[in-house]
Amino acid sequence: MTENEATVAAVDWEAYEREASAALAAANSPPELDGARVRYLGRKSELAQALRGVRDRESGMLLNGIRERLEAAVTEREQRLEDEELDHRLRDEFVDVTLPGEQLAVGHLHPITQVRRIVEDSFLGLGYEIWDDREVETVEYNFDKLAFAPTHSSRSPRDTFYFDETHLLRTETSPSQIHVLEKQAPPIYMVSIGRVYRRDAITATRYPIFHQFEGLAVDEGITLADLKGTLLHVMRALYGPERQVRFRTHFFPFTEPSIEPDVSCGICGGVGCRTCKYSGWLEMGGAGVVDPQVFQNVDVDPERWSGFAFGCGLERAAQLRHNIPDIRLLWDGDLRVLRQF
Ligand code: DAH
Repeated sequence: MTENEATVAAVDWEAYEREASAALAAANSPPELDGARVRYLGRKSELAQALRGVRDRESGMLLNGIRERLEAAVTEREQRLEDEELDHRLRDEFVDVTLPGEQLAVGHLHPITQVRRIVEDSFLGLGYEIWDDREVETVEYNFDKLAFAPTHSSRSPRDTFYFDETHLLRTETSPSQIHVLEKQAPPIYMVSIGRVYRRDAITATRYPIFHQFEGLAVDEGITLADLKGTLLHVMRALYGPERQVRFRTHFFPFTEPSIEPDVSCGICGGVGCRTCKYSGWLEMGGAGVVDPQVFQNVDVDPERWSGFAFGCGLERAAQLRHNIPDIRLLWDGDLRVLRQF
């Protein structure tokens, strides 16, 4: 018996194979399986060492047979572990694609912006031009050229924010009428929308900043009837056909005659309640036929051209549209309130 034959004979190969098969079958993870493979099939394993020394055919067949079967067992176990791992992941990471998704919160436009767009759309539909203007004005444009009397109470620093003797934060969008008349020759159809400022204490109905939309139409043969038709059109767009609209006479320095449009109160349906001060009507703003003095101030011939103008508050419009009782709710930025509109 050679030395090699002695090595082969020294081991109980049946027991070796049984033990190795059991160890491979018991491996529960890739590292465990690798450990068993190294131990029974690796370069330093008894099997590999014996195989290196084999000289006779019989031992070679015996040991190679064991090696092939064990290698097949490793591959099989490897496959099995991979399958189990996949099963686990499929079970643990299961996603039910039929469940409803998480709803992402989508923002929406502030009620003032909504109203602004309604106003813009309805005037663009009538062929008006939208005019953007400055918020810092001069006394000349905010008051003088609009024919405010030198003693008019709005000129007081108690009512108006002044920067100096001649500059102020505009108290109305009406100065846009002057700017557009100076820049463009009639016919003119324009709407100017933006912020205006007044030194008012904050209450349920007043806020020192608010928005107005101002309109001016100048053409040949324009009358008060055109103004009423135009205002009715925008009121319908803002409040729908159910609300009533009426016009009262009034006074403004830059229009003659002057009127104030009212809309029937949506909270009480016109019967009378606290919001409408039991009158059934809510004031919308001011309007009138352009005073010839204003045309003369900007060198437009009042014999040839006539026109109408109007100015309304956007906060007022948003409040009337949605029956919002307090103007402060539009400025607080409270999402619980704003989400409702
Ligand atoms: N500017 C006026 C105000 O703020 C509203 C107004 C009245 C605008 C008559 C006009 C108008 O264009 O013709 O109270």
